[in-house]
Parts: sequence; structure tokens; C-alpha cells
Amino acid sequence: MNTRETLKINSAGHLSIGGADTTELAARFGTPLYVMDEQYIRDMCAAYSKAIRTDYGGNGLVLYASKAFSCMAIYRIAEQEGIGVDVVSGGELYTALKAGFPAEKICLHGNNKLATELSLAVESGVGLIAVDSYTELDKLDALCAEKGKRQEILLRINPGVEAHTHRFIQTAKTDSKFGFSVADGTAEKITAYALKKEHLDLKGYHCHIGSQIFEKQSFALAAEKMLGFMAEMRDKLGFTASVLNLGGGYGIWYAEGDAQQSVSDYTAYLRTVIGAVKASAARFAMPEPYLLIEPGRSIVGEAGITLYTVGAIKDIPGVKKYVAVDGGMFDNPRYALYQAKYTAILANRAKEPATERVSVAGKCCESGDIVCADVDLPAAKEGDILAVLSTGAYNYSMASNYNRNAVPPVVLVKNGKADYIVKPQSYEDIVRNDVIPESLR
Ligand code: LLP
Repeated sequence: MNTRETLKINSAGHLSIGGADTTELAARFGTPLYVMDEQYIRDMCAAYSKAIRTDYGGNGLVLYASKAFSCMAIYRIAEQEGIGVDVVSGGELYTALKAGFPAEKICLHGNNKLATELSLAVESGVGLIAVDSYTELDKLDALCAEKGKRQEILLRINPGVEAHTHRFIQTAKTDSKFGFSVADGTAEKITAYALKKEHLDLKGYHCHIGSQIFEKQSFALAAEKMLGFMAEMRDKLGFTASVLNLGGGYGIWYAEGDAQQSVSDYTAYLRTVIGAVKASAARFAMPEPYLLIEPGRSIVGEAGITLYTVGAIKDIPGVKKYVAVDGGMFDNPRYALYQAKYTAILANRAKEPATERVSVAGKCCESGDIVCADVDLPAAKEGDILAVLSTGAYNYSMASNYNRNAVPPVVLVKNGKADYIVKPQSYEDIVRNDVIPESLR
């Protein structure tokens, strides 16, 4: 499955997703609206799991990186697919637990985990905590002592592979808020320190080299470097790591210029990584580690679209045409943050050819509030339904109430049926935590 298979144009000339007509979804649920295709998400989870089963003898687990899209329903889907999850905050952890997700299949990340977050993690019995500072090691050890628990941990390592979209470079760069560098020896020092902690059980290492990466070799190189480092720790400290978490980062299609991936491309990526892990383990005479991977964007990104209603249209002769929609940077801040590219379609006129290049603007009081720049569309009219594709990852999860706009609801579709997985926010919800203190009365 890929975006092209999830999204179809039906006999009415409307865009459909997961068998549901997007214009009907817009009419029933209103806009702006996030729509996620359940089958797409399940297919991706299953494909990654299958690669670990068939190519690595089942000696590992897929952890869905829930920062990409977090709500109770997604943890339920992950559980049903038999995978684990990665969480990076007390809020994500709480959401997963509230959905009944098994704690032992959760890995907690974060470069500055709060005492309350560590406490919730230890109490609930999360499987792994990826420790990323001396402060955290000390805090966590003391916490476990106090609670009479022993916690399995990983250490976050910076292997010196910096990956960018479409390319990768090897670097000894140590300037990162994440991880301990292999190159400057701090990774070895923290290993020695962690091994002395009485209430912590060091199982192995974690690394994450970047996001929206298409270059398979960068992941393979990271795997090689991590195995090399693990062998070094065995030789120098007598510590043989049994777990290796290689993070996430595999890229998805957003717009022209991005590779169109299919499930088999994603499993090919995992196969390359597994090949590198096996070869490096053999080369360094290390036991093959229990392998964790943390895909986020590739599981949910192309599963999602956002539906908007077209409002004001402003044509600035010789300059640009703006098509304004009822959403904006409060539901998708990725253009404002990263000048991210997207593909837009007029969902109610999906068969019509594009006749003009426009920028889709949001409704926030800010010039930089663009949803997607320079997209080709038929001449849009007020009331048209505009769909922006590949918005399943890092859109809802990065949404805000900027300008006191409501965060749009999310619906999940399967076989043409749609249900809320996140309900709409009301104005009452927006003022729920506001207080006018006595002094202002
Ligand atoms: N594991 C760790 C430790 C991570 O930091 C991340 C992403 C992932 C896994 C998942 O990576 P993915 O497979 O989704 O690429 N807000 C940005 C993306 C930030 C990603 C941060 N870490 C965006 O909208 O593009």
C-alpha cells in the first residue's frame, strides 16, 4: 500500500480515502478535519514486524514512535498489531497506559526526563528507559532504590553518522543535545558509570540518526558503528550489550521530488539494516542483539490527509494567488517551521486538471501561516474542499491552539466507515483551564 493505493478518485470525481468519499466526510464531520486510513497504518506495522520475523528470526520488536501521532486509538492499533511503542513524555506515556497498552512493550525517551515522568515510567513498569544524561542516571537509580525496583535501561549514543534527507555524512560532530558521542569517548565513560548503578540494568544502546531519510546506507552505517562500539565495550569493560535500538527516520512521500515508497520499499530498508546488523555482529564476533526499530512517520504519515474548506481567495496580479482555508499553522505548522512541501488536491473536483499555481494560506494572523506553497490546482472557489496529503505524521501531534483556534478532530476510516478517534474541541474546551483570579474580579 502507498498513498496512491489509499487515495482514489471515485465515480463522482471526488477524492476518497480508505473507501470513504472525502466530501461526505467533510459534510458529516466538518472541516478542518484530519482523516487517517486504519488499514494503511496496520499494513505498515505488519510489514515491519514481518521483516523482523522473517529476516531476523523474530529476535526484535518494532516500536511505533508515537511522537508522530499520539492518541489513545493509535496505541490500541499498535497493541493489536503486536508491536511496541516509543514515548517521549509523561503525556505520551499516560495516553498509552490509559489506552491499556502493555507497559513492558514501551520504551521511554527524552533528553531531559522530568522526575514525574521517570516516576510514572518506573511505577507503571515500562520495559526500557533510554537514558540520556548523568543527571538522569543518578535520578533514576535513586528513584528505583526508593521504590525497591530494578529498571532495564539503554544509553543513547551518538555514533557519528549524521543523516539528511537524500544523503548522509559521517561526522565526528559532538554538538548535539542528544546522546553520548562514541568519537570523544563520552559514550564509553557513561557506560562504565551506568554499569555501577545498583538498581539499573544496562541492556544495551540506542541511536537515532535523523528523520525523513531515504538513504538506506546511512542506517546500515549507523548499525555498523553501533556494533563496533558494542564490541569495544565488551573488550574494554567486559560488558556485552544484548539490545540495540536503531531509532526511526525512514522517509515518506510528500510531494513531487520525494520517492514514492511502497510497503516493499520499507521492508527493503529494514532488510538492509538487518543485513548490516548481522554482518557486523559476525565481524566483531558479537552475539546478534535483540533489535528494536522506531518508525514513526513511515507508519502514519501517508495514512493521513487533512480536509479544509476554501474561503477567501486573493489574487495579487503578477505576484501570487492565495487560496485561504479554514485551518492553518495551528493544525499543520510544518511549512512555518521547515518550509515543508505538500501536495494539495481539490477533493470535490479531483478529476479536473490543474490550471494555476497558488499558495494555500491558513487563517492565522501571521504572514508565514502557509499550509503549502506553490501547488498546482484547478481554479479554486469558495466552498471547495481542499485535501492536503501525507499529513498523518507530525501534524495533529504538533498542533496548537494558536489564535485560539480549535485543534481539528481526527477520524479513522476503514472500508468506507469513519469514526472519531479525537473529538472536536469546543470553545468551552479552549477556555477550560482559564482562570480569572480574585484580583481581577
Ligand atoms: N526515535 C527517536 C528517538 C526519535 O527522536 C524519532 C523522531 C523517531 C524515533 C521517529 O522518527 P521518524 O520515523 O518519525 O522519522 N517534527 C519533525 C520530526 C521530528 C522527529 C524527531 N524524532 C517533522 O515534522 O518533520
